[in-house]
Amino acid sequence: MVQNDLKKIVGWAVLKYIQSRTIVGVGTGSTVAYFIEALASIKKNIKGVVASSDVSSLQLKKLGIPMFNLNNLDSLDIYIDSADEIDNHMYMIKGAGGALTREKILAAVAKKFICIVDVTKQVNILGSRCPLPIEVIPMARSLVARELVRFGGVPKYRHGVITDNGNNILDIYKLKIINPIDLEEKINNIPGVVSVGIFARRCADVVLVSDKKGIKVINANS
Ligand code: 5RP
Repeated sequence: MVQNDLKKIVGWAVLKYIQSRTIVGVGTGSTVAYFIEALASIKKNIKGVVASSDVSSLQLKKLGIPMFNLNNLDSLDIYIDSADEIDNHMYMIKGAGGALTREKILAAVAKKFICIVDVTKQVNILGSRCPLPIEVIPMARSLVARELVRFGGVPKYRHGVITDNGNNILDIYKLKIINPIDLEEKINNIPGVVSVGIFARRCADVVLVSDKKGIKVINANS
């Protein structure tokens, strides 16, 4: 089974967690694109969605799913998103799609965060396979890159990419993230950092993992 099939399976499997008349936060990426397809099949049962990126907004609009502005809501019932890497504590690296800042906002406001991944995303130590994305204010790009070198990383500027918020992305290679909560806070404190793709302070509540045998459900504290 190829990875895309596994993404599709988990994108549809999460549908049963969506309750009637709720507002759903929607992440970004190829796994989430399958979830959006699935969501369209029950669009009459939900109130609507809040999207984490222009790309997801476009797909949701095309499928006629009602969209809300987060500023008009007190909270979000549930947030569904994928990840680039996830460890045993349900800490994640996200942001390969460049939507990490809005994803972090939706994760923070959601009552429940369900992460949907295929088995290739599971790692023992974050940073083992993927670089760590950081969204930065353009004028601070070099400053942030120098600071990340001090942390042992190898920063690479994602050329030609402007985020939905008008910023740049740095991808940090060769970081082995032993203490994600601590590193998330340290990087957040560098002037010019908009957000870092470590999702540890607000991690997932439930993770669905697809592999060739089916879906494994992991609950926080289980
Ligand atoms: C986008 C993200 C995505 O969740 C992450 O990159 C996974 O993407 P995909 O489902 O395409 O593998 O964080 O900013």
